[in-house]
Amino acid sequence: MKVIRVKDDSRNIAEADFPYSMDKAEQLRFLVNYAIQAPSNHNSQPWKFSIHDDSMDVMIDKSRMLSFIDPHLRQLKISCGAAIGNLEVAAKHFGFEPIVKICSHKADTDVVATITLGNKVPDDPHNSRLFNAIIQRQTNRRFFVDKPVATPLLEVCKNLAAECAVEFTYLTSQEDKKRVANLSEVAIRHQHNQPWFRREFSSRLRRHTSGKTGMSSFGFASLNLPTPVARFVMDLFNNGKSSAKFNRRKILQGSPAIAIFTTEVDEQEAWLNTGRALSLVLLELCSEGLSASFLHQAIEVEHLRPQLAKTISSRGISQVMIRIGEAPRVKPSKRRNVDEVFV
Ligand SMILES: Cc1cc2nc3c(=O)[nH]c(=O)nc-3n(C[C@H](O)[C@H](O)[C@H](O)COP(=O)(O)O)c2cc1C
Repeated sequence: MKVIRVKDDSRNIAEADFPYSMDKAEQLRFLVNYAIQAPSNHNSQPWKFSIHDDSMDVMIDKSRMLSFIDPHLRQLKISCGAAIGNLEVAAKHFGFEPIVKICSHKADTDVVATITLGNKVPDDPHNSRLFNAIIQRQTNRRFFVDKPVATPLLEVCKNLAAECAVEFTYLTSQEDKKRVANLSEVAIRHQHNQPWFRREFSSRLRRHTSGKTGMSSFGFASLNLPTPVARFVMDLFNNGKSSAKFNRRKILQGSPAIAIFTTEVDEQEAWLNTGRALSLVLLELCSEGLSASFLHQAIEVEHLRPQLAKTISSRGISQVMIRIGEAPRVKPSKRRNVDEVFV
């Protein structure tokens, strides 16, 4: 894998700095450097961490929620799950068995999981590859090159997701992609018809030079404009038709594989597990030189979720959809520093 140097400080983590001689609290604190490299909805980084003696609470940060797009905190909790997934990989890499206790949705608290470091275990080469991908992984919204994704790799991803009790179904035929494109088109038009959607989405677009959260507009359907212009256009105009058209082309001509993560139930534990599965799958793909980006519209529009599951003949509930392929790298997104995520 080609290593790209990035200037963002939060990614400048030296493996050799792992505090082997210090206590578990310091070790957990160090591992959070890797957790915060996880993907999050609109790069909201909606996580907080708190250390008590030898264990660490992972908490949701509701101040970072997207009230309209994600009213039930589903994407927010999937993002926290991805941060937990990254942390698990990093803990194993440094020789510790991570013990993750996911809190039930019935517990009325912002704490969604508690993590401790268990027995020492030697890292295995596969996990080591995933670890090396943590800093390199990025969401890549480009059109992917027209080259099939190897089925054995997709099967590895399926098995990784299954370890987290999540089903990973992949689609590669043009017929299936057409069905996904049709649903996404309905979803995009529906969303763009709502001024509140456009305002909330555009509020999360940031210039690369400003802020440590939010997304650049690069690669978004018909928004390949400088970010301030993209925000202005999105706020004022309903460009749903052109966005839907652009997205359709991306699915049909620039997405060698599409994958959908489904779970049996639709609550906190399933969302966190989806995030953990997402982390593993994205790291696996990155370690094999592949990119991924999200196709979330048909999941964000609640009444389309069952139709998406039907498309893949799943009785499960759709949680995340990604496109997979090969493309040149893009500018990495930013992160807050590790000190900013502790309470
Ligand atoms: C639950 C979830 C939903 C997401 N939804 C979208 C989406 O609808 N469209 C999109 O382009 N990216 C989506 N993303 C990707 C984020 O925008 C991306 O992770 C974030 O900007 C950070 O960038 P990075 O992944 O390159 O580190 C989603 C990520 C997560 C975890």
